[in-house]
This record gives sequence, C-alpha cells and structure tokens, in this order.
Amino acid sequence: MTSCKLCGGPAAYFIEHSRIMLCQACFIKYYEKKVYNTIMKHGMLRGARKVAVAVSGGKDSMALLKVVSKLISEKFPEVELIAIHINLGIEGYSGECQEIVEKVCGKLGVDYIIHDLSSMEGYRISDLRSTPLRKRICGACGTVKRYMMNRLAYELGADRVATGHNLDDVVELLFEFYLKGSIENLVRVRPISRSDNPKLITKIKPLIELTEKENLYYALARGIPILDASCPLVEGSRMLRRKKLIGLIEHEISGFKHTLYKSHVKRILPRLEKVVAEPMLVECEVCGMPSLSSVCSYCRLISRLARSAESSS
Ligand code: AMP
Ligand code: FES
Ligand code: ZN
Repeated sequence: MTSCKLCGGPAAYFIEHSRIMLCQACFIKYYEKKVYNTIMKHGMLRGARKVAVAVSGGKDSMALLKVVSKLISEKFPEVELIAIHINLGIEGYSGECQEIVEKVCGKLGVDYIIHDLSSMEGYRISDLRSTPLRKRICGACGTVKRYMMNRLAYELGADRVATGHNLDDVVELLFEFYLKGSIENLVRVRPISRSDNPKLITKIKPLIELTEKENLYYALARGIPILDASCPLVEGSRMLRRKKLIGLIEHEISGFKHTLYKSHVKRILPRLEKVVAEPMLVECEVCGMPSLSSVCSYCRLISRLARSAESSS
C-alpha cells in the first residue's frame, strides 16, 4: 500500500501537480493551510467585519463554507460570517441545491439567507428558456448571480463576498481571454477584487489555488453533504468543453494549470493593472446599484425578460 508522504500512514489522496500522496488527515491540514495562506497572501480579510459566503450547494462553495467558518472561528474571531444562497428556480435542480445549503449551514451553525428569485423577484432562470436569451442562458444566469451576490451582501452590511471559484474555473477563463486577447477581462481575473464604492462589495476567491478535485475531496473528508448533480442547463456548454481540453493539457504537461495561474497573477496582472484603466461606475437609473452604463446589465436583462413575457401573452 502507498504511504502518506508526510506521516507514513495509509495514503488516500494523490496531489497531481506536486505528485505526492497524502493520507486523509494530512490532506485536510494541507488544504486548510493552503486556503489560509491564500487569504493572508492577498490580504483577503484585512480589515474585514462581515463576510458573506455565496453558496450554491455544489462541492466548491460547500467546501469553502466549511474551511472559511473554521478559519474565521480559529484565526479571525472578530469577523462575522453569513452564507447567502440564491434559489435560481431551475426545475429539477434548484430545490435540491437549497436543501443542501440549509442542511450544511445547520450542521456548521452558520447563519444564512435564501433569496428565492421566483417569490422575491417574480421570475426564474427557467423562464429565460422561452426568450431570445435561451442560447446564452448560462451567461444571463451569471449576470443574475453576480448582481444578486453583490446586492444581497450590500443589503446585509457585509464588506466581503467570498465565492468558491477554483483553479479550474479561473484557468478556463484565462484560457479563453488570452486566446481572444481580451485585456479588459483578463485584468479582472484576480484573487481579490477590491472596491471602495460602498455599493460594490470587495470580492474574494479563497479557493483560487485549489482544484475542483481537491475541493471535492475536502468536502468528502470533512463529511460535508454536497449536491451530486450539475446544472442541467450547462450540459454541453463551451465552458465544459474548454475545461475538458485543459484537463488533457494538464495530463501531458503536469502543473500546467498552476503555472498559467501563477504567471498571470505574478507577472502579467501587475503590468496589466498599470495600463488598463479601472472602469468608471455610475448609479443605475433603475436600481441605483453601480453600473458601467446608465442602466445596469441586470436591469437590462430583466426588462428584456419582461418584454418577452408581454409579447407572448
Ligand atoms: P458558478 O458560476 O456556478 O461556477 O459559481 C461560482 C461561485 O458562485 C460558486 O462557487 C458560489 O460561490 C457562487 N454561486 C453560484 N451559484 C450560486 C447560488 N445559486 N447562490 C449563491 N452563490 C452561488
Ligand atoms: Fe446558471 Fe445553470 S446555474 S445556468
Ligand atoms: Zn440596475
């Protein structure tokens, strides 16, 4: 039997990029140390009072909630924690996501809020299927999630929003943006997006250096229930195809994902930040939240949805 590189006990997990085997207990220590180091390296909780952890019910954000609640209680006891979940109203999916979130928050003793799009906002993501937006439904859903995470965190008085974005998510974005030469988007791929606008909450990604597999393994090792299904609307998407391709590259070039991420953050990002101006924000005329144009992308999306509903009635 292979033994753990650190303690010599029975190995349970293979860390691909560093090619070492660890037992479950040493993996948990490795994982929590890595998240702590990421938080410290980027000053993610420096001066923070209240962190809103955005949780979907999936492996990444449930692992995030566990590790952040542990680190906060042990190392940052002055910081308040709240979990936020948006019930997107996707048939055969969103109900189960909410159940998992409620179960895990109960188990960890973390306060949480559920924002149900259908009852609170009067629409569901599934409604977009009957509009011209159906071809870009994941993009539209992303707009809704980003807007809601920020608005809910603002309304709750939080000064950080933590998301479960992992290394695979970020490398997939980098791959696409480098390929397209999309400088304005590349400059926004970062572990922390600081803001001094009170209505735009600073976003942090504490799992940015951990892979999907590591997050899954941590959630399992810690006995955290997770949803064992992915969104039915995302199947066959370009994003999934790109992630598969990146997996093949990683198989041939071990450490590819870590190298691309590190080169971006250490070498390229600091230079890009000097040449790409921060966008000017105004208040959205409809909702009053920060926006790049007179009406924010969320309010434009909602008015398109309302127009489609009118024309089909
Ligand atoms: P995704 O865009 O689905 O890859 O999710 C990225 C991150 O956004 C997750 O790790 C969560 O932190 C957050 N998130 C996604 N869906 C939800 C949701 N329904 N409610 C709250 N947060 C979410
Ligand atoms: Fe948004 Fe699937 S979670 S489209
Ligand atoms: Zn708006």
